[in-house]
Amino acid sequence: MYGLVNRALQQLVCTHCGDATWDEVRARAGVQEEVFMRMDSYPDELTHRLVAAAAEVLQRPAEELLKEFGRYWMKYTMVEGYGALLSDLGPTLHSALAALDGMHARVTLLYPALKPPMFRVTGMTDKGMRLHYHSDRAGFAPMIIGLVEGLGERYGVRVEVTHAVAKGGEHDHDRFDIRLLSGSTAT
Ligand code: HEM
Repeated sequence: MYGLVNRALQQLVCTHCGDATWDEVRARAGVQEEVFMRMDSYPDELTHRLVAAAAEVLQRPAEELLKEFGRYWMKYTMVEGYGALLSDLGPTLHSALAALDGMHARVTLLYPALKPPMFRVTGMTDKGMRLHYHSDRAGFAPMIIGLVEGLGERYGVRVEVTHAVAKGGEHDHDRFDIRLLSGSTAT
């Protein structure tokens, strides 16, 4: 995973809990790096170790942390100068979700070794939609909930996101059911 992701995690923990807490997380995870380079690739396993260690240090479930990280990612990418990519996702939450693969394809121009996830939207109604998430990676599914909530916020849409189907066995991908809460519209 590109260092940009680990930097965001570091920033999230440092902002909320301080640098000393991050040092504790890093020590517990056995991670030497004090700084992650945005454009360098790091093993996915290192990111997983950091998330697991942060969950232990902060005494919060890892799933909850990943969900918060998803929400934070939407803010972090804006601050880091990727706002234009998010602005090109069309006028609605639905268009934005449908445009995620194209957006990551553009990210690939900046990060050539990117291994982006793939998404598909189905079952669009005035009440919500389904988001299908395909990735070679495991363990990042809870992040999608926060990402979709954060994306919804950008469109003034409140959503309830449920991890309806987990990858494994007969399922080759994860599925999230997105329910629009009252007063929200995705079209
Ligand atoms: C401008 C905004 C964004 C940028 C710059 C960006 C960039 C990236 C980068 C650099 C990675 C690491 C992948 C790798 O190193 O191989 C990544 C992973 C990921 N991105 Fe994005 N992303 C953005 C927005 C989004 C949005 C809006 C979503 C979904 C709603 C999303 C979903 C994911 C997921 C789930 C991963 C984890 C990797 C995986 O599941 O395989 N990203 N993204």
